[in-house]
Amino acid sequence: MDPTAREVLAGPPAVARRAAELMVEACASAAGKVAVCLSGGSTPKLLYELLATPRYAGRLPWDRIRWFWGDERFVPPDHPDSNYNMVRRSMLESAHARTSTVHAMATTGISPDESAAEYERMLQGYYGAPTLDASRPLFDVTLLGLGEDGHTASLFPGVAALSEARRWTAAVLGVKPEPRLTLTLPAINASRLVLILVTGTGKRPVLERLERGDDLPVAHVNPTNGRVVWLLDEAAAGH
Ligand code: 6PG
Repeated sequence: MDPTAREVLAGPPAVARRAAELMVEACASAAGKVAVCLSGGSTPKLLYELLATPRYAGRLPWDRIRWFWGDERFVPPDHPDSNYNMVRRSMLESAHARTSTVHAMATTGISPDESAAEYERMLQGYYGAPTLDASRPLFDVTLLGLGEDGHTASLFPGVAALSEARRWTAAVLGVKPEPRLTLTLPAINASRLVLILVTGTGKRPVLERLERGDDLPVAHVNPTNGRVVWLLDEAAAGH
């Protein structure tokens, strides 16, 4: 983990505030459309709720932002485990984000593999090319979390998607009870700014493994033309 791109904040609310400030800055400095790739899980929920409050909602260019997901659980969009559902309820609805700006991964009426391929086509259409150019990131901001096994998005240790070097998306089966959809590392690393939010004492051991140099999935998040900022709270950092 790059120590220069690591901030330790008092607790989850401070992590959310710092992430919100960095997002506002990144969106303001981006010209035209702004691509934000969202993380699932529980950690970023506070951030999403904060972004929808008057203190931040007025500082984000909602009409220019396009919302994408880094991964999704293959459950219906109204399912309590759906990352889309979590973001919709914690931010998009109260911020009145226009539906046309929200690009969720399809999880009904389609197979996981077909949905991954469909999402890749949509991303390539947004990007305007079928291959990524290192000089032109796909995402302006990418939010990631960290699992206790070192996974990020749905790139779990040992899955084939982790070594995918060409495709932008993949379906991940057999790791969790439900199939997962995930961006691959080429897509994640095509980000101008990656914010990795990690809070709670439960994440201390995996952070210590990273510090020791263990080859964990999140250790491969290394934007070609961008930077990573780790936002940890004191509980996770062991302070
Ligand atoms: C998901 C996320 C996943 C998450 C980590 C951490 O769909 O669950 O994309 O990668 O970020 O598992 O989850 P917590 O924030 O709940 O600890």
